[in-house]
Amino acid sequence: MIYQCLRGASLCDIEAAGMSGYFTLHDRSVFPCDPNGVPFTASYIQSTGDPITDILEDLAAEQKARTTYEHLMTLTDNPDIIEPLRFLRQREVNHYQRFGECLQILQEMIPNNNVRYKNQFAECSFT
Ligand SMILES: [Fe+2]
Repeated sequence: MIYQCLRGASLCDIEAAGMSGYFTLHDRSVFPCDPNGVPFTASYIQSTGDPITDILEDLAAEQKARTTYEHLMTLTDNPDIIEPLRFLRQREVNHYQRFGECLQILQEMIPNNNVRYKNQFAECSFT
């Protein structure tokens, strides 16, 4: 989508969009970064080895992605941009629901006498 938006954009268009800094470093190529130009790194992805913690982080990541797509949708009235964002937003909702199902499956797998995990579930129940 970014590539399509930048394809054919003039330097004036790029400057008017506040993307002069981006253009200086990356021209019109796609470079994964946040709106402030901070590059994506693997440090954004967490894996603790605790399945409950990891799934809860996944759930939060899906919600943050959904929110970001909603914010992006408020920034444009272009239907060619909004429709793919709407699709991506719904995909995050679906991911959230699947991770929620995984969390419930985990809950059912943990023996009742495992106090550590049972206490965690009590704090983050989805029922
Ligand atoms: Fe997702």
